[in-house]
Amino acid sequence: MKLFDVYSLYDIEPVSGKGNYVYTADGTEYLDLYGGHAVISVGHAHPHYVEAVAQQVAKLGFYSNSVENSLQVRFAEMLGKASGYEDYSLFLCNSGAEANENAIKLASFHSGKRRVLAFGKAFHGRTSGAVAATDNPKIIAPFNRTENVEFVPLNDIEAVEAKLATNEFCAVLIEGIQGVAGIHCPTDDFLQQLREVTTKYGVSLILDEIQSGYGRTGDFFAHQHAGIRPDIITSAKGIANGFPMGAVLIAPHFEATKGMLGTTFGGNHLACAAAIAVLEIFEQEHLVNNAREVGEYLLAELRKIPQLKEVRGRGLMIGMEIEGSASEMRLQLLKKYHIFTGGAGATTVRLLPALTVTRKEADKFLVALKELLN
Ligand SMILES: Cc1ncc(COP(=O)(O)O)c(C=O)c1O
Repeated sequence: MKLFDVYSLYDIEPVSGKGNYVYTADGTEYLDLYGGHAVISVGHAHPHYVEAVAQQVAKLGFYSNSVENSLQVRFAEMLGKASGYEDYSLFLCNSGAEANENAIKLASFHSGKRRVLAFGKAFHGRTSGAVAATDNPKIIAPFNRTENVEFVPLNDIEAVEAKLATNEFCAVLIEGIQGVAGIHCPTDDFLQQLREVTTKYGVSLILDEIQSGYGRTGDFFAHQHAGIRPDIITSAKGIANGFPMGAVLIAPHFEATKGMLGTTFGGNHLACAAAIAVLEIFEQEHLVNNAREVGEYLLAELRKIPQLKEVRGRGLMIGMEIEGSASEMRLQLLKKYHIFTGGAGATTVRLLPALTVTRKEADKFLVALKELLN
């Protein structure tokens, strides 16, 4: 059997990793400023993470959600403290798309309404509801096309209010920072106004923090820079450092009923052990602070480079707008300088490193980039 050919691949195969580096079988070292698409939060093969996952799989890797699982309870308590959402409830699933799917479902159950307002260029995942709320017709199959979703431009509060005034919407779904679109930030003002209008019309505000959350921007979630509290927050990617896991953080006014949401694998023992280890490492190594510091440094240095047309982002979620082809630039960074980066569209290079990235590693990238641009 061969693989269904849906991914464009680099002809490089990392077979091991350590910290912020990955290695091919012949021992060639690559600096990972892509974090496997914002997934690696505490670095590759962190000893504490490896030990926690290994110990748990040797003990009990999985049992169903029909029995008590104190690892879930412990993780929920830790996540509440780390994020500042101790009064919210947690539903665990397996991926970002699934987290958004459940968030939308919850908002719809809660209000009895069926329409969702999303934003131009948004990406929320590839399952039915999540892809319908994704502004990319190329990945929306006819089956997924629905009148239940509408899009308005990011940062346009009047457009939002005009839609919400119809009283047809159960939710507004917005990324903390748009990632796949190429790192576009909602302004703090806009997020604050969005909170006000969603409250005014009784619409759930769902913050998709799947890429922008989990410490990446120097606060636990990107929306916290604007000082707002959404009704529902979705998380995934960095949550378990590569072990598949998604999470929905749910405000106290939502009432749970038995069977309302569910999953076979969500919140399994191994995933929880991985996620607990990640938060322990966050605390021990002050990784959210590190993300802020190294992120601010990188952003400031990149903004000094005259050949870059624009540098966008916050903390370690950075988009650079270049002249010419981003994929060509990324290929050269990879082949010539052994540095992994991410892309977004034709002209944006994205940086999404682990929160463990150091200033020295940032400098290594800056030297390579400047050399290439010159
Ligand atoms: C903002 C955002 N939401 C949702 C998703 C979907 O997550 P997953 O691929 O885990 O389903 C992604 C993935 O890139 C994302 O960036």
